[in-house]
Amino acid sequence: MARQAVFQFDPPTSKTLVGDCRLILPTLEAESVQCCVTSPPYWGLRDYDHPEQVGSEPSPDLYVSDLVSIFQEVRRVLRNDGTLWLNVGDGYARNGGTGNCGPNAVVGNTKKLIQKRNCKVPAVWGLKDRDLMGMPWRVAFALQADGWILRSRITWIKKTAMPESVKNRPTSATEEIFLFAKTPSYFYDPNGVREETGANLRNYWILGPDPSTYGHPAAFPRELARRCIALGSREGDTVLDPFGGCGTTGIAADEMRRFSILIELNPEYANMRNQDQPRNGKKNSAMKTAR
Ligand SMILES: C[S@@+](CC[C@H](N)C(=O)[O-])C[C@H]1O[C@@H](n2cnc3c(N)ncnc32)[C@H](O)[C@@H]1O
Repeated sequence: MARQAVFQFDPPTSKTLVGDCRLILPTLEAESVQCCVTSPPYWGLRDYDHPEQVGSEPSPDLYVSDLVSIFQEVRRVLRNDGTLWLNVGDGYARNGGTGNCGPNAVVGNTKKLIQKRNCKVPAVWGLKDRDLMGMPWRVAFALQADGWILRSRITWIKKTAMPESVKNRPTSATEEIFLFAKTPSYFYDPNGVREETGANLRNYWILGPDPSTYGHPAAFPRELARRCIALGSREGDTVLDPFGGCGTTGIAADEMRRFSILIELNPEYANMRNQDQPRNGKKNSAMKTAR
């Protein structure tokens, strides 16, 4: 049976819609959003406790194609001069049977389903045990091939990186944020964020995790969302995050006088956004740790 859309939405307003973004995105009005700022679950890293979660696909190539279809819907919803700001993380292919292998499988909230699956090197892309999957670029190239214009790769340098007990490679302390445009004449405000010297913003952002207040395991820093929104929209525009988490994108959008549409599968996380009141222009309590 065909899956049915379950939500209707009349912009402009700000809200968090609870459910699977694959069902909700098709209900959003075409060309109604100026920019999308988002971070999907990384493949095989965490269990967000829902059968429909993205990131639990049995192999990484299915994850890439899942993201391509999701972002096709995002492209439909974006205005023609709209942009997509996409943060995607990497992971390692590992062989093993203990449940302690796989991309970052030792993190406390990784659950059995994800761990078990990650204990076999996926039979794609010629991956071997311990291979870095190169997932961000695989996703970026797939989106590019699907019609997106890839305009920038921003490296997020983490002030406080997750400790890793590895002795055979450097600790990972960076992630990618890609800027994609729907068309060549997209909106970008070069004055939205500038370097302290006044120079054009560079494509590496050194950002710390926000102090924790909630239990979301993978929130990105509010400053990351704020920069993308400032560069990719104007006051009164609508910003979208189809993987809303605890609402970082929405909270930043509120502070910057943009409307926002967030979609989040897990109602517990979706409710976290509302805990950030009041939002009358003051600094809010910050989000949980960054990845
Ligand atoms: C990496 S987190 C996003 C964190 C967010 N940027 C923040 O700062 O809180 C990914 C989120 O996507 C949600 N998610 C997973 N599959 C989803 C789906 N099919 N539809 C909507 N949300 C989904 C997860 O529950 C998780 O909260």
